[in-house]
Amino acid sequence: MVKAARTGYSALQIGLHWTVALLIVLQFLAHESIVNAWDAYQDGEVLATPPLAFLHIALGFTILVLAIWRLVLRFTRGVPPLPANEPAPLKFLAHATHFGIYALIIGMPISGAVAWFLGVEQAAGAHFLAFAILFLLVVLHVAGALFHQFVLKSSVLSRMAVAED
Ligand code: HEM
Ligand code: HEM
Repeated sequence: MVKAARTGYSALQIGLHWTVALLIVLQFLAHESIVNAWDAYQDGEVLATPPLAFLHIALGFTILVLAIWRLVLRFTRGVPPLPANEPAPLKFLAHATHFGIYALIIGMPISGAVAWFLGVEQAAGAHFLAFAILFLLVVLHVAGALFHQFVLKSSVLSRMAVAED
């Protein structure tokens, strides 16, 4: 059951948000090794796992576990509602963006694993498509956070920095 009436995030929720954010950025930046290994496999070579490709897989599974942990906390501890004075379309956009980000950071490790461990080419295609959409959502998400901070002048960014309890 979702617990209402939270006014902020816990230290654990904040720590998990920024840890996952950092790991996602690392995955965005350091994927060359796994892409090369995958391309070589597609060209008929034996599937090899160089250290950076292994890192991609390990970080990917770490993101999966942390994302599920975050979702569990969302439903057990709860999260603060969006600012009451936020226009309805922006609220919808924020919720849709958060939902999309969760779906993709859970879907990406799964599609990546299906491609890598089961050799399914379509899963690699889905993984790439998910990457493109996640990238756009993260840009939108960061723009939203900055819009809140500098235009709406709400407390949204500071509540993702300072814990409630
Ligand atoms: C890859 C990077 C990121 C991911 C995957 C991500 C993901 C998320 C998700 C899913 C939420 C929804 C709240 C929850 O239930 O946990 C959230 C909240 C939030 N994020 Fe991010 N985020 C990222 C980067 C950032 C950055 C760079 C900023 C700041 C510029 C930021 C600022 C915020 C803020 C302020 C909230 C709270 C919104 C609220 O209180 O309603 N995030 N983030
Ligand atoms: C949330 C976690 C993950 C993120 C954000 C992520 C991100 C990425 C990115 C940005 C690429 C490059 C896309 C391209 O240029 O084609 C990529 C490729 C790849 N990743 Fe991941 N990845 C994640 C998890 C995983 C996991 C857990 C595995 C394997 C167990 C995996 C396997 C692959 C493979 C095989 C490729 C090359 C095939 C392709 O390009 O689609 N990934 N990943």
